[in-house]
Amino acid sequence: MAKLIKNGTIVTATDQYQGDILIENGVITQIGLNLTRKDAVIVDAKGKYVFPGGIDPHTHLDMPFGGTVTADNFETGTRAAAFGGTTMVIDFCLTNKGKPLSQSVETWHQKAAGKAVIDYSFHLMIAEINDEVLAELPAMIQEEGITSLKVFMAYKNVFQADDGTLYRTLLEAKKHGALVMVHAENGDVIEYLISQALEAGQTDPIYHALTRPSLIEGEATGRAAKLTDLANSQLYVVHVTCEEAVQQITEARNRGVDIWGETCPQYLMLDQTYLEKPDFEGAKYVWSPPLRPKFHQDVLWNALKTGQLQTVGSDQCSFNFIGQKDLGLGDFSKIPNGGPCIEDRFSILYSEGVGKGRITINQFVDIIATRSAKLFGLFPKKGTIAVGGDADLVIFDPTVKRTISVETHHMNVDYNPFEGLEIKGEPVTVLSRGEFVILDKQFVGEAGNGQFVKRRTYVSSASGEAVSKKETIRGGVPNV
Ligand code: URP
Ligand code: ZN
Ligand code: ZN
Ligand code: ZN
Repeated sequence: MAKLIKNGTIVTATDQYQGDILIENGVITQIGLNLTRKDAVIVDAKGKYVFPGGIDPHTHLDMPFGGTVTADNFETGTRAAAFGGTTMVIDFCLTNKGKPLSQSVETWHQKAAGKAVIDYSFHLMIAEINDEVLAELPAMIQEEGITSLKVFMAYKNVFQADDGTLYRTLLEAKKHGALVMVHAENGDVIEYLISQALEAGQTDPIYHALTRPSLIEGEATGRAAKLTDLANSQLYVVHVTCEEAVQQITEARNRGVDIWGETCPQYLMLDQTYLEKPDFEGAKYVWSPPLRPKFHQDVLWNALKTGQLQTVGSDQCSFNFIGQKDLGLGDFSKIPNGGPCIEDRFSILYSEGVGKGRITINQFVDIIATRSAKLFGLFPKKGTIAVGGDADLVIFDPTVKRTISVETHHMNVDYNPFEGLEIKGEPVTVLSRGEFVILDKQFVGEAGNGQFVKRRTYVSSASGEAVSKKETIRGGVPNV
């Protein structure tokens, strides 16, 4: 049945205006003033913003890691995402050395199918480059629509790939139209620092941060940027935490390298002192890269404002405090890395960003949805509000004051790292391809309604206004 969203304030990455939105067959078919439609379900959005649904470019649902499996799967994770205003997630598909890529992708399809309540896609981890991988990659990118490849420069002996693998992945990505993503830390040096700390009896959670200094996040970011330059390729740095990494990205962008950066709410809001909480509570705040001294937060906010960083991902990777994080009692290196944020990413960025004047409301939409849609081959089907686009929409009440808490969140995990944070603004109604998933703050969606979305190949010029010299030379028209 058609739906008509009336009297809302429509906000995109570029505009803000009063208007009604007509939705038919899951797609936006009309936008204008005083729209009427006899048989439509009317949704009153007076006094509210209508945003494009959030796109979370970084999640780990149902992922084996650190001797356990993340607490949120594709059902609980996407349901919580929807409550929070997110209508699409791009999850990381892990691969295994020596196994076909197609087998790993099939495993990830099985995790998501029948469970997801919103649309989803996958990034594909590259652990090695060999003849089999080279043979499989073109079809993965161009037929399966998995147009982003992830290389870990950390987690030695687990996920870490060497520089040769990163370089060859960059070359392949360039050739076949994918965006390479990196977790930029120096895993070799970290392994040594961890062994030294443990030898000295330094086992508490704080040593997680102290053995992963920001200098080596900067070093790895700069190395990846230079390899990208050498390969004349394209790079997206996930979960940027610190000044050193922002500097490397900025410098590379100024040289014309096609490089993009993401940060996460935890790095914008929390600092290293959280790891010092007593009674092992610091384990709740173990992410990699780690939380940093407070001054880095201003650097990250400023980088979002000035466009040196372009997206905010949740890096959703939830582990219960009891039964999972406590695997690292007595040895910080065994604490499963990651935390829950899929639900709060959208509202924290709105409240702390727009509400506190750090970014504009249009920048908010760009950072939370539009830029990821452009970078990951979804725009303009997703990531904006336009005729012909999917009706993935959030009706958002900017006046509601609330407190983030494990008591009220919908993630399947026993703590919330932002516990007690007072924020302003709340998603009230959320639609995915024109169907209500959240209606008046109640879940009305259904597991399995989320669909796998094949994404278009990467086109530099589709990635936004910051078209560099090199991108201009390479040219290319978005194949929308
Ligand atoms: O600590 C984190 N970030 N856990 C998730 C895995 C990753 O490195 O993104
Ligand atoms: Zn190839
Ligand atoms: Zn990572
Ligand atoms: Zn991650």
